Amino acid sequence: MGVSRRAVLLSGAGAAAAAAAATAAETALAAGGSVAGGAVGGAGRSVRTEDVGRHGDVGRQEDLSDRYPDERGWVNDCVRRIRALPYEPTPMLELELPARLRGSRLLVKNESVHPSGSHKHRLAQALFLNALANGWLTRNSPVVEASSGSTAISEAWFSKLLGIDFVAVMPSGTTAEKKQAVLDLGGEIVEATGATISERARSEARARRGHFMDQFTYAERAYDWRGDHGMAGEILHQADPDWFVMGAGTGGTAASLARYARYTGHRVRVCVTDPENSAFFPGWRDNDRTVTAKGSRIEGIGRPKVEPSFLFPLVNRMIRVPDAASIATMRVVGERLGIAPGGSTGTGLYGALKVLGGPSRHREGATVVTVLCDSGERYLDTYYSDEWLDRQRIDFRPWRDTVERFLDTGHWVPPRTWREPHTPRGHMWNM
Ligand SMILES: Cc1ncc(COP(=O)(O)O)c(C=O)c1O
Repeated sequence: MGVSRRAVLLSGAGAAAAAAAATAAETALAAGGSVAGGAVGGAGRSVRTEDVGRHGDVGRQEDLSDRYPDERGWVNDCVRRIRALPYEPTPMLELELPARLRGSRLLVKNESVHPSGSHKHRLAQALFLNALANGWLTRNSPVVEASSGSTAISEAWFSKLLGIDFVAVMPSGTTAEKKQAVLDLGGEIVEATGATISERARSEARARRGHFMDQFTYAERAYDWRGDHGMAGEILHQADPDWFVMGAGTGGTAASLARYARYTGHRVRVCVTDPENSAFFPGWRDNDRTVTAKGSRIEGIGRPKVEPSFLFPLVNRMIRVPDAASIATMRVVGERLGIAPGGSTGTGLYGALKVLGGPSRHREGATVVTVLCDSGERYLDTYYSDEWLDRQRIDFRPWRDTVERFLDTGHWVPPRTWREPHTPRGHMWNM
């Protein structure tokens, strides 16, 4: 193997000496050796060097193609395969509302129809394209991701499409159904505690010489938020809503919708629904990114810390949602729509009902869109299991009555035993 880049900036006697040095280097490398003092490759990789300058690094040429391989043919092929995937906007379901809310609409964007079963299909596609275009993926290195499940399943799907090994670092409490889906797609699973999955994924990637995809950092910037073919473009063109309501895991979906709205001049405002024990709500309320919390029981949303993709200024309103209310809404609305959604969909639906029926409700009616993130099939042993709910001491029945009554009459009557958390007047979250 020869030296691929030749020395430049040569002149006079220096050039002759440098040429001799370069020839010696080429000879050594051709014989399979490394150049003394010039091998700068890390972790056992040798890097070929021509040290031809007389003043420090001036004129120094290094061949770092081992460290920064440009496998353009492979990258182009991966990108082509991803871009060739069929594209079709996902459907909207509409929930019937009571006469009292005449003029209002509640639409549910069904993202469970993606081949990998959730809105994270779009994120995984964006993360892979971003990583390929940035030169972060190489042919024989695995992709590693930290995920409570949905993103892992979607990234496993794309890894399989591209023939890349995939390792998911998942919280130990993740449902068996989600773990099985990753395994079925050829992925490997490493379990860690919820708060440490990102650190663990980073160290796994280092140890395996792979790439840590890092959805929590890159979700907000990997999405093509200017494009009409993202979830934001589809929603705003299908419905032109007054409010978009959804929980946050990375915060990437909320951020890209808010950006697209600003970019295209839409009026929609963004409400994030946050489950119990999540750091997002107190962090946003107090503009404090250092807040920590215990971590949520609603898979996919509510994090123990404020993740980098959760962008405070793009969120107009937040609603804290008791876990029992998420489960109740998931079940009641699911029955009325003839579907079985997952828990995070229940959290978003609860927020959508509050926005429609709350004290600040639009007299002339409002259109609210939320997302059916994934199907309840992934949660048969948790949110759809009465034993699991008993073990977790989640009694959703009082909330079920509240939601049923609201959908029948338009009146919001919270369970008698429940007190709305105090929200000082005049604050943004109290709109
Ligand atoms: C099931 C589910 N719902 C909702 C979300 C939240 O989406 P985002 O990460 O865009 O905030 C996630 C994120 O992981 C999820 O897995």
